[in-house]
Amino acid sequence: MKFTNALMTFTLSLFALLGMFAAHVSALPLHEDSLEKRDVYVPPVLYPHTGTVWKSGQRHNVTWDISNPPVNITNRIGFILLRSGKFSTPVVLAHGFDILLGRIEVTVPLVLTRSDFSVVLFGDSGNFSPQFQISGLDL
Ligand SMILES: *[C@@H]1O[C@H](CO)[C@@H](O)[C@H](O)[C@H]1NC(C)=O
Ligand SMILES: *[C@@H]1O[C@H](CO)[C@@H](O)[C@H](O)[C@H]1NC(C)=O
Repeated sequence: MKFTNALMTFTLSLFALLGMFAAHVSALPLHEDSLEKRDVYVPPVLYPHTGTVWKSGQRHNVTWDISNPPVNITNRIGFILLRSGKFSTPVVLAHGFDILLGRIEVTVPLVLTRSDFSVVLFGDSGNFSPQFQISGLDL
């Protein structure tokens, strides 16, 4: 069948493309090392934690541990995303702050009530909090 063949070709080229991408990504660290000595900084999130309950519309300080920062941080500008279950959502809770602040005030967005939320703190890389509850809309 023609359709199946076309689909097969498409799938194969997609895999080839992904393969090229993966090869490119794994080659990156070597390249960076040769430029300058920089440290990837991923401080652990302290709050929210297990047992935390936020309500939509409230303001809260997301906090993280800044006790052991490396001397040279690759990217000091942080942002925080909301995560639900295993998936990061595109919901930005805060952005453009200094990762060495250790806390940033956020407004809890309106969400459907769930207890599998977490926040993901990004500097160089992402570090997510334990799961906690946001009480929002109950349908
Ligand atoms: C967040 O922390 C700052 C500094 O400690 C404080 O002034 C502010 O009231 C806190 N915000 C909330 C919502 O607790
Ligand atoms: C930090 O960066 C400076 C300037 O690039 C460099 O001289 C120094 O060796 C670096 N320190 C560490 C611990 O990587």
